[in-house]
Amino acid sequence: MAKQTALVTGASAGLGREYARLFAHDGHDLVLVARRRERLDELSRELAAAHGTTCLVIAVDLAAPSAGQQIADQVQAAGRSIDFLVNNAAFGGRGAFARSDRRRQLEMIDVNVRALVELTHRFLPAMLERKQGRILNIASIAGFVPGPFMATYYASKAFVVSFTEALASELHGTGVTATASCPGPTATEFGDVAGSSGSNLFRRHLSDAVSVARHGYRAMLAGTVVAIPGLQNKLSAQSIRIAPRAVVRAIAAGLNSDRRK
Ligand SMILES: NC(=O)c1ccc[n+]([C@@H]2O[C@H](COP(=O)([O-])OP(=O)(O)OC[C@H]3O[C@@H](n4cnc5c(N)ncnc54)[C@H](OP(=O)(O)O)[C@@H]3O)[C@@H](O)[C@H]2O)c1
Repeated sequence: MAKQTALVTGASAGLGREYARLFAHDGHDLVLVARRRERLDELSRELAAAHGTTCLVIAVDLAAPSAGQQIADQVQAAGRSIDFLVNNAAFGGRGAFARSDRRRQLEMIDVNVRALVELTHRFLPAMLERKQGRILNIASIAGFVPGPFMATYYASKAFVVSFTEALASELHGTGVTATASCPGPTATEFGDVAGSSGSNLFRRHLSDAVSVARHGYRAMLAGTVVAIPGLQNKLSAQSIRIAPRAVVRAIAAGLNSDRRK
C-alpha cells in the first residue's frame, strides 16, 4: 500500500496510541491529536525512530468549538490529505446524573459526539473525491445498552454506533467505509478518568489495549461495519439483544455500581 496519512484523535494514551503504532508499523504517516502535547511529541519521536514515520502533532481540546477548524487548518497547512480517520478520543464519568457536573456532561457530548461528527464531515468529502478512505469510530459495547450511573457516556456511544452504521450504509459502493469498533472494558486510562476503576464492570477481566486496537484496525481495513472484539463482549452484545430491557437496565446499573466486597 502506498504511504498514506492517518489522523488519530486521543493518540496520547490507551487505544489511540496503539492505533497510531499500527498505522506507523504499516508505513503510514500520522496526524496525532489530543490535549497532552508532551505525550504526542514522545509518541512522534518513538514512531519516527521505529518506522521513519512523519507525525504532525496537534495539541487541541476537542471540547472547544474551534477544535475541528484548527485541525483542518493545520492538516491543510501541512499539505496533508487524510486517508484514514480514527475518531477515538472520548471520556466517561460515573455517578448519578442529577448530581453530576453539568459542564463535564456537556463536554462529554462535545468530545464523544460533536467532534466525531465534525471531523467526519470535514474529511469525508475529499475521501469521496479520491474514491478511497477509511473511517474508524471507536464506540463501545456500552453503545448497545442504557447505562444507569453513566447515562450520558452510554448514550454518546449509542450515537456513535447508530451514526456509523447509517454512514456505512450511505457510503456503500463509494470506496470509502465506516467502521464502529465496540470494545468492552479495556486496560487504559479510561477507568481512572471516568471514576469507574472501582466499579463491578472494571472488576471483571479487562482486555488489553494492543489486541483491542488490532481487532478494530483489521475490521477497519476489511470495511466491517460493526466490530466487537473478544468472545465475552460478543456474547454480551447478543444477550443484550434478546433480554428484556428492564433486565438489561438493572444489570447495567449493577455493573456501574461500586465493587462488591
Ligand atoms: N477502556 C475502555 O474500557 C473502553 C471500552 C469501550 C470503549 N472505549 C473507548 O475507547 C476510546 C479510547 O479510550 P481509551 O480507553 O484509550 O481511554 P484513555 O486511555 O483515557 O484515552 C483517551 C484519549 O482521549 C483523549 N481525550 C480525552 N478528552 C479529550 C479532549 N477534550 N480533547 C482531546 N482529546 C481528548 C485523551 O487525551 P488527552 O487527555 O491528552 O487530551 C486520550 O488520548 C474511547 O472512545 C472510549 O470511549 C474504551
